[in-house]
Amino acid sequence: MTKIEKQTGVQGMVILVTGGSGDIGSEICRLLSKQGARVVVHYHTASIRAKKLAQEIDGFLVQADLSQEKEVNSMVEKIADEVGPVEGLINCAGFPINKETQTFWDAPFEKNTATMFEKVFAVDCIGVVLACQKVLPVMKKKRFGRIVNLVSTPAVTRHDKGYPFTAAKAALLALTKSFALEVAPFQVTANAIALGTIDTHWMDLYGETERAKARRRIPIGRIGTPADVAAAASFLVSREAGYITGQTIVVDGGDISH
Ligand SMILES: NC(=O)c1ccc[n+]([C@@H]2O[C@H](COP(=O)([O-])OP(=O)(O)OC[C@H]3O[C@@H](n4cnc5c(N)ncnc54)[C@H](OP(=O)(O)O)[C@@H]3O)[C@@H](O)[C@H]2O)c1
Repeated sequence: MTKIEKQTGVQGMVILVTGGSGDIGSEICRLLSKQGARVVVHYHTASIRAKKLAQEIDGFLVQADLSQEKEVNSMVEKIADEVGPVEGLINCAGFPINKETQTFWDAPFEKNTATMFEKVFAVDCIGVVLACQKVLPVMKKKRFGRIVNLVSTPAVTRHDKGYPFTAAKAALLALTKSFALEVAPFQVTANAIALGTIDTHWMDLYGETERAKARRRIPIGRIGTPADVAAAASFLVSREAGYITGQTIVVDGGDISH
C-alpha cells in the first residue's frame, strides 16, 4: 500500500490554492492546513498578506500572474521541485473587484467593452485552464488528482450585471464539466463550486443596504462566509471525494433554488 492510500482526508496532500491571498482563498488555506495538508499559498500582488498567512499555517508561498502562461508554468515547476507534485488544485483566484474596477461589475451590458471581457477572462477562465493543464500530466501519471474550480451562481443561472464575470465563470464551468470526463479514467476528478453571496470585501463596496437585501432574499437567512466555501472545497479536494466528478456544488444558502 502506498503512503497516499494509507492517509485519509487531505493529510499530507500537496494542495495549491490559487488566490490564497484573497478573502476566500485564505480561509481555504487555513482549513486545509488544520486538516493536515501541505498547503501552497499563491498570490499575485498581496505579498504581505500572503507571507503572513504562509507563516501562520506553515505553508509554501508562490507568486504568479495567472494570466501569463510562463508564470503559471514556473510556479507549478517550483512547487514540484521544492514541495512535491501538486495533488490538489483549488482555483480560487479571480479578477479583483474594488473601487477601481467596480464598473466591471456595475456597467450595463452595452457599456461592457471588449477589454473588460478580455481582462476578466484572462484570470477567471484562461488562467484557470492554464493551471489545470500544467498540473494534469503528473496527476494522470500518478493516477490521483483533485481539481476544484470556483465559479459563481450567475454562471449557473444568470445575472443582471457583472457580465464579464458571469461569462468567464460560465465558460469555466462548462470546461470543468467537460474535461472532467476526459481525465476521469486517470482517477483525477474536477468539480466546481458555485458561490452565491459571500461576505468578503466585495460586499463592503455595496454597504449595509445590499447586505440587508441579501439576508432577506437568502433562504438560510444569512450571507455566506469564506468558511462555508472552505468546507465544500476541502471535501471536494479530499481523497474521499474520488467518486464525484464533473459536478457543481452550489454554496449559496438556497439563494438560486427557490
Ligand atoms: N466574494 C464573493 O461573494 C464571490 C462570489 C462568487 C464568486 N466568487 C469567486 O471566488 C473567488 C475568490 O473571491 P474573493 O472574494 O476571495 O476574491 P479576492 O479577495 O478579491 O481574491 C482574489 C484573488 O485572486 C488573485 N488574483 C487576482 N488577479 C490575479 C492574477 N492576474 N493572477 C493571479 N492571481 C490573481 C488575488 O491575488 P492578490 O490579492 O495577491 O493580487 C487574490 O488572491 C474568485 O474567483 C471570485 O470570482 C466570489
